[in-house]
Amino acid sequence: MKASFKHTVYKSQSKLSEPIIKLLNKANSQLKASYAPYSMFNVGAAILLENGTIIGGANQENVSYPLCICAERVALYTYGAKNSKHLIKALAVTAKYDQKPLTAPCMPCGACRQVIQEYEQRQGSPIDIYVTASGIAEVIKIAGITHILPSAFHQDHLL
Ligand code: THU
Repeated sequence: MKASFKHTVYKSQSKLSEPIIKLLNKANSQLKASYAPYSMFNVGAAILLENGTIIGGANQENVSYPLCICAERVALYTYGAKNSKHLIKALAVTAKYDQKPLTAPCMPCGACRQVIQEYEQRQGSPIDIYVTASGIAEVIKIAGITHILPSAFHQDHLL
């Protein structure tokens, strides 16, 4: 993937740690929870907490298209609803598209970046983001949302 932001490319999963491989596997298994009858684009996400807990998410679509929600936000809001005291260490995202082979990792959309940013700010520490896609071995690590959402709008802009 050509990218102008700071990131690390892993050509395969072999150099990744055991917890991150587990996290990527969870994101991959979440693909079957994707409900995407309109776009046919399946996305799976998983969050790793500092205590080792993993929380999954998958994109959920609706015939009223604007109501569709991305896998990342399903996972993050599930975490938020648990009121956990454990911080988020990492987020993994993968995608599958049967219409056309994917050739690049699935990057979080702008809306999800904004939400990831707020979870980082709430916990006061960055979240490592691992992106990949079905059928490609490559995994990209982005060490915190600021690399893909610089100068974000955040709470300090409000009163
Ligand atoms: N989607 C995600 O779940 N995450 C992303 O980062 C990009 C897009 C979903 C939303 C929609 O259900 C489908 O992929 C096509 O946009």
